[in-house]
Amino acid sequence: MKPLLKWTGGKRWLVPKLQSIWHNLPTDKLVEPFTGGMAVALGLDPKSAILNDANVHLINFYQQVRKGLVIEHDLKNDAHYYYATRDAFNALIYDKKHKTKQAAAMFYYLIRTGFNGLCRFNNSGEFNVPFGQHKSIRYRNDFGEYKSQFTNWQFKHGDFARLKLEGDELIYADPPYDVEFTKYVAKDFVWDDQVRLAHWLDRHTGPVISSNQATKRIVSLYKDLGFKVKKLPAPRMISCTGERKPATEILAFKNID
Ligand SMILES: C[S@@+](CC[C@H](N)C(=O)[O-])C[C@H]1O[C@@H](n2cnc3c(N)ncnc32)[C@H](O)[C@@H]1O
Repeated sequence: MKPLLKWTGGKRWLVPKLQSIWHNLPTDKLVEPFTGGMAVALGLDPKSAILNDANVHLINFYQQVRKGLVIEHDLKNDAHYYYATRDAFNALIYDKKHKTKQAAAMFYYLIRTGFNGLCRFNNSGEFNVPFGQHKSIRYRNDFGEYKSQFTNWQFKHGDFARLKLEGDELIYADPPYDVEFTKYVAKDFVWDDQVRLAHWLDRHTGPVISSNQATKRIVSLYKDLGFKVKKLPAPRMISCTGERKPATEILAFKNID
C-alpha cells in the first residue's frame, strides 16, 4: 500500500531491496523506531509491527486511521483556508487536544497542503510551515482502506530507546540523517543520538538494518561495532559547492547473512 503522507526522507525507493532481505528472514515482526511516512512497513506488510516516531502528531494521525478516520470537513487547496487551519491546529496543541481525531484530520490536511510536505515546528512547538502553492492536490477523506492493515500494528510515540523489544524482530532504523535534514522535531537529532542509536541497535539480538547518509563518521561508527556496511546511491541530489551530485547512503546490517 502507498504511504498516506509524503514525508521528508521517505524510503519508498528502498522497499524492493528490503523486500528481498525480509522474505528470507525467520521473522514476521518488524520494528521501525523512526517510521516517518511508513513507506517500509507498508511495503513489507509484516504480520505484526511496532511503528514508532518522536513526532506525536504523526503517530496520533496513524492511531486515528487505525480507528477508521474519516475527515468530514472541507479540504481545500487555498492559502486563506490553510492559514486558518494552521491556527486552529496550533490552538489544539496549546489546549493539549492534539491527540484527537480533529487534530489528526488537520495534521493530514496541513502536511498535504503545506510547502513541500514539510513538518516543522518553531521553538514553542507551533506548526509553522507556509502554504505550499501546489497546482492541485488529490486529498483523501476516508482512510478505511488502511484500517484492517493497521489493526495488527502498534503505534508508539517517543524516543527510539524507550521501545521494549522481544529480541527476534527485524529492526529497520531510518533516523534523521547525519548532517542533513536534522530538523524533523523541535529537538535536533545530534551526533550523540547517532552514537546512542548505533549502540542500541548493536545490543539487539535479532536482525538489524540501519540507513544513513554515508558520512565518514557514520561509516566508521557502524563498522567499528561490527556491522556490515554497504554503500548505495540514493535517488536524491545533494548540492556541495554548487554542483549537484547523487547523495550516497549506507545500509548497515547486523545478524543478517
Ligand atoms: C528519515 S525520517 C524516517 C522516514 C521513513 N523511513 C519513511 O520512509 O518515511 C526520520 C524520522 O525520525 C523521527 N525522529 C527524530 N528523532 C527521533 C527520536 N529520537 N526517536 C524516534 N524518532 C525520531 C522524525 O520525526 C522522522 O519522522
